[in-house]
Amino acid sequence: MAEQSHSVSPSGERFPLPGEGDRRAEMAHLEELVRAARDDGKEIVVVMGMGFVGAVMAAIIADTVDKETGKPSKFVIGCQRPSVRSYWKIPLLNRGQSPVKAEDPEVDAMIDRCVNQKKTFIATSNDDCLGLADCVVVDVQCDFTKQALGDMRTGEADMHALEATMRTIGEKVKPDCLVLIETTVAPGTTEFVAWPIMKKAFAARGIESQPLLAHSFERVMPGRAYVASIRDFWRVCAGCNAEARRRVEKFLHEVLNTTDFPLTVMDRPIESETTKIVENSYRATILAFLNEWSLFSERNGVDLTKVVKAIRMRPTHNNMIFPGPGIGGYCLPKDAGLGYWAYKHILGFEDGDQVFKISPLAVDINDTRALHVAELTRDALRNMGRSIAGADVVLCGASYRQDVGDTRYSGSEMVVRKLAEMGAEMRVHDPYVDHWYELELQDEYPSPGHSWSRFFRNQEHLEEIRVQKDLAAVLRGAEAVILAVPHQEYLELDPEQVVQWAGKTLAVIDCFGILSDDAIRHYLELGCEVKALGRGHIKRIKEQVRADTESLRQNA
Ligand SMILES: NC(=O)c1ccc[n+]([C@@H]2O[C@H](COP(=O)([O-])OP(=O)(O)OC[C@H]3O[C@@H](n4cnc5c(N)ncnc54)[C@H](O)[C@@H]3O)[C@@H](O)[C@H]2O)c1
Repeated sequence: MAEQSHSVSPSGERFPLPGEGDRRAEMAHLEELVRAARDDGKEIVVVMGMGFVGAVMAAIIADTVDKETGKPSKFVIGCQRPSVRSYWKIPLLNRGQSPVKAEDPEVDAMIDRCVNQKKTFIATSNDDCLGLADCVVVDVQCDFTKQALGDMRTGEADMHALEATMRTIGEKVKPDCLVLIETTVAPGTTEFVAWPIMKKAFAARGIESQPLLAHSFERVMPGRAYVASIRDFWRVCAGCNAEARRRVEKFLHEVLNTTDFPLTVMDRPIESETTKIVENSYRATILAFLNEWSLFSERNGVDLTKVVKAIRMRPTHNNMIFPGPGIGGYCLPKDAGLGYWAYKHILGFEDGDQVFKISPLAVDINDTRALHVAELTRDALRNMGRSIAGADVVLCGASYRQDVGDTRYSGSEMVVRKLAEMGAEMRVHDPYVDHWYELELQDEYPSPGHSWSRFFRNQEHLEEIRVQKDLAAVLRGAEAVILAVPHQEYLELDPEQVVQWAGKTLAVIDCFGILSDDAIRHYLELGCEVKALGRGHIKRIKEQVRADTESLRQNA
């Protein structure tokens, strides 16, 4: 196969990959800019990985001003591999355009400001820029690959990108450069994997001092407060040695709002790494635990949404959340896996299965919860005398949480895949998602060989699905609608209107406590069938509607 020489952006723009001559010219230009920035008193920061986190973190650093003079104090070089898959991010950034689509207007504005006005941010694919840095921030991915559906224990951490990045950094940085790993890593990675890689590279270069390596994980949340969730949020950090710790504290105080959101400094990097893994496993566990009570509720006339609401009144329990159709996002489905894997493969313990009972189970439950949505859809259609095979089903909401366009590992994907396997004709609506790459490009998304399509049959045609924005149009002729995500647009839908758009009665499946009791009643009165995750009281409403209709008929 001929080697591809272009990288194509999501909007379809083609960028030729740089050649050796381009690299040299680019480096000469960077050196010139860095010289000028240093003359101006700025610190040089290289951010490795221009993904969801790195691109925005880089802009936040580039936007930093000296607290006394108010002048920009950092010059940032964003570095990204020149791969066919990702190179396009560089030319886009250098125009001042964000490579990540965010609901937060501050992302685009800040990147444009730093690139075009302040001129404190430039992007490159030439990692020789590492030699110019006073500080390097690492934001490359560290994935956890699951081998089977609902079996986290057979998964593996994919440290490839991170290890390669650390090797390059060790080969190129100045001895006194601070290196800060922000990537979520398996506990032990910073001190027992990354530090030795850097030390070995330093030794090969004849450098006698210890590399200055630190860890501070990201807590970024997609949505309208994307920038604030990085800059104006509590951070945790640790250094491999005393000097690394001093430097990382100084750096984070300079670039983040640590006045209002104090920094927590841990003794060792493994403690900072474990903090991230435990906080995400905690969240994943609460959600998974509610799955059994959701099934209990469905079968015993209980509305779990009201149970959760009642419990949340108690201040000690006010962060309980209703479990939707799976968990989603980049972090929650994988982070416990990184911890479980590290216990054996980095830290050398053989009794992982005796120690880790709850966290793996939580991930497995969350990963497969969405399959139940397919069962509910099948049953609702059956109650209407229809079959799921060949039924036109509309899924409302492709992303993993409300009012964002982030589709990574969303429960909705599992719903679509399972229903496609059962023969349903799927259509998708989402006001925030333009392209559902997990479906459209399933051969290469999230990476080749890793699509959830491998766990199901009959998936080929899902590549043809295009996310629709016109709800009325997508509902035309639908036999079932699945309200999968509580996007604003779905909260106030009028049942009469939905039935009118569909042109007939349809099955309505609520995955997220979206329907009010009035709406449920209204759908049932219109002759629709309603089913929902965790909402067993629907049966009661149905009996009431039936009784009311009967008494109306008798009184007529
Ligand atoms: N996205 C989130 O919501 C979120 C939240 C909290 C924490 N995190 C953590 O942040 C980290 C980064 O996540 P992300 O969402 O930004 O990932 P991402 O996949 O969007 O970005 C990673 C980028 O690094 C690049 N890269 C890989 N190897 C490289 C190399 N050798 N040199 C230069 N660039 C390289 C990739 O091409 C990609 O552009 C992960 O550890 C993740 O767990 C993410």
